[in-house]
Amino acid sequence: MNKFTLEYAQQLDAQDPIAHMRDEFYIPKQDNGEDEIYLCGNSLGLQPKKTAEYLNYELSQWQKLGVKGHFSGDFPWMPYHEFLADESAKLVGAKPSEVVCMNSLTANLHFMMVSFYQPKGNRNKILIEEHAFPSDHYAVESQIKFHGLNPNESMLLAKPRNGEDTIRTEDIISIIESQGEDIALVMLPGVQYYTGEVFDMQAITQAAQAKGCKVGFDLAHAAGNISMQLNQWGVDFAAWCSYKYLNSGPGSVAGCFVHEKHHNNKDLPRFAGWWGHDKETRFEMENTFVPMQSTEAWQLSNPPILSLAAIRASLDTIKQAGGIEVLRKKSIQLSTYMRDCLEQELEDEIDIITPKSIKHSGAQLSLIVKGDVDGKTVFDAIEAKGVTCDFRHPNAIRVAPVPLYNSYTDAFKFVTLLREALS
Ligand SMILES: Cc1ncc(COP(=O)(O)O)c(C=O)c1O
Repeated sequence: MNKFTLEYAQQLDAQDPIAHMRDEFYIPKQDNGEDEIYLCGNSLGLQPKKTAEYLNYELSQWQKLGVKGHFSGDFPWMPYHEFLADESAKLVGAKPSEVVCMNSLTANLHFMMVSFYQPKGNRNKILIEEHAFPSDHYAVESQIKFHGLNPNESMLLAKPRNGEDTIRTEDIISIIESQGEDIALVMLPGVQYYTGEVFDMQAITQAAQAKGCKVGFDLAHAAGNISMQLNQWGVDFAAWCSYKYLNSGPGSVAGCFVHEKHHNNKDLPRFAGWWGHDKETRFEMENTFVPMQSTEAWQLSNPPILSLAAIRASLDTIKQAGGIEVLRKKSIQLSTYMRDCLEQELEDEIDIITPKSIKHSGAQLSLIVKGDVDGKTVFDAIEAKGVTCDFRHPNAIRVAPVPLYNSYTDAFKFVTLLREALS
């Protein structure tokens, strides 16, 4: 049967048990009034309809209660981050005590490295990827310099083999096995931002910890996209933003995970602030820092409640859909459908650099236009036809069919418009 027909896509939509979730989001409109084909949830997720309600509730609490809002109402501000812990934990396979919403992603990576990058003697290297997201690269480089070391010597870069686009797990593990004694920290993404490759976090963690390295993951493109088991895998720390697959709005507060095995370790260095102090005695205003016995100990400041309210709206929307396992199930079917259509219709024009195996791919497909055709020109052409996706230098068109609000019809229309643009 030919899958590449509107009827086939509509039939898949009719059978989709979470198709109704699209109505829980605002879908941007084209000039002609039709919905955009929005495939950019890997960059900025769409706004859930609950968001305005949850934000307005907090604004009205502030109007009515002023400072008393810290302790009154259904969601008092003082413990507000605690209302997010259960659902955030489910997304990354953690215990609620292991996760907290705080700061921004790059800030959290820095705070985590303060605790988990402790160079000593020869063990002073950080293993990252050659083309890590620039913010991660800068953060790692500056942490190395902060310890008085030379990034040229202390930064180890994992890269794809010649002629390949993605990094093989076996190559990462082989670096760890051969140079592990010199590595203090392995810090990699859960999902690579450019290629969409999903890293084997469990295997990497196991290999690195067997060599005595600490392991942390940047889950910017993984949280809300794939299922993870950070607690079970024994990952030391992780951090993620909430504005991509977590739909909490531009620049919204980030998430952070620290494995429970570290919660009582008094020897870990930490940059501290009053929100990390034991909440029972925080307001006694003493000068001795008593850390919480959870990842909350890494909090610095009282958090921006309006941003946390947007996260609560998003987490409730994901829960309403049935949680991350339900999303992942549809995501596999939806991205496989889009890939099948691309392979059938555009095999000679497009390379999909995202690995094909389900284990190594998530919602995002990264496309490279073959031959002499300029990828950016193709991107501009589909954008003019109502597709929102993104173009990342040097030449990838990234498209993310997001299971919460994208349909099989979106995937069909995208491939149709791409085919038109390429012809
Ligand atoms: C993989 C990755 N790491 C880090 C960042 C930086 O995030 P932030 O600006 O929230 O610190 C991003 C932003 O898109 C990202 O995709």
